[in-house]
Amino acid sequence: MRIGVLTGGGDCPGLNAVIRAVVRKGISTYGHEFVGFRDGWRGPLEGLTRPLGIPEVRGILPRGGTILGSSRTNPFKIDGGVERIKANLADQGVDALIAIGGEDTLGVAAKLADLGVNVVGVPKTIDNDLGATDYTFGFDTAVNIAMEAIDRLHTTAESHHRTLVVEVMGRHAGWIALHSGMAGGANVILLPERHFDIEQVAEYVDKRFETQYAPIVVVAEGATPVEGQMVLQNQELDAFGHVRLGGIGQWLAEQIEKRTGKEARTVVLGHIQRGGTPTAFDRVLATRFGLQAIDAAHDGDFGKMVALRGTDIVRVPLAEATRELKTVPIERYSEAEVFFG
Ligand code: F6P
Repeated sequence: MRIGVLTGGGDCPGLNAVIRAVVRKGISTYGHEFVGFRDGWRGPLEGLTRPLGIPEVRGILPRGGTILGSSRTNPFKIDGGVERIKANLADQGVDALIAIGGEDTLGVAAKLADLGVNVVGVPKTIDNDLGATDYTFGFDTAVNIAMEAIDRLHTTAESHHRTLVVEVMGRHAGWIALHSGMAGGANVILLPERHFDIEQVAEYVDKRFETQYAPIVVVAEGATPVEGQMVLQNQELDAFGHVRLGGIGQWLAEQIEKRTGKEARTVVLGHIQRGGTPTAFDRVLATRFGLQAIDAAHDGDFGKMVALRGTDIVRVPLAEATRELKTVPIERYSEAEVFFG
């Protein structure tokens, strides 16, 4: 069998570990051949390929990013896109495709599967918000990076008697904020799932200043205050209509400073959370996803996505990947709230 592999959407530590596992097992156990498609769905759309064999995956396990490149190209938004993909897959003699990506990439994979393309999906996102799997690789790495930043910010905040607001990624789900904030001992954690009251945040900050410690506020980029409290100045949107990083963190620091009379600074971690080497947890999860994905392709079990359920790697219908966004439940937030202030 000749199998195409692509990575789509925002990059994520562990993508290379999936590619390596797919190729290593695909060649050594099953004798399949591979072709890499470059830059997500743009690869099969424009016929952009690169060789993918044992030499190409050597040494990539600890490397962040993706050797195949990525993009947010959606062939369903391009005239004749699907036909071009089918023609290019046929040109390349590709029998099956393994698509590694988040909601958007897997959404395309699910629609293509319905149209008869042989696809297997592998879920990835640092946001950990895909409903069909207990965890996605990349999340643990992002949380550890954010936790280390918070640890470092505690000491500088204390030295200067300042509040430090740490803005982490998470537009729709606050998993990174919740986990890094809990692990890093934040004094307040703000998530997109629950509107916050800026007066209450300022009270927590004030309370913290009563001890020898300085407050650390962790905020997910998608968090917003209760209605009427926020006027974001200079809010810029990117080409996809998303609020640019730095919006809410900056606003919070200004408001906290105004209410407490003490200096506040903002640190926007941004894409640092997506870069560099994956943690051991993410390398193992990504490798196990890759092994299951190549098994599914070999079995001809198409239209499926691999997923973690408990400690098992299972196959679920691709359609499930995009069915439900997994947000932080209120009970999980309540656990963190015990430590606020
Ligand atoms: O979905 C992953 C993610 O890193 C989000 O946490 C973040 O909101 C978004 O991608 C940023 O996208 P981009 O890299 O396109 O700016």
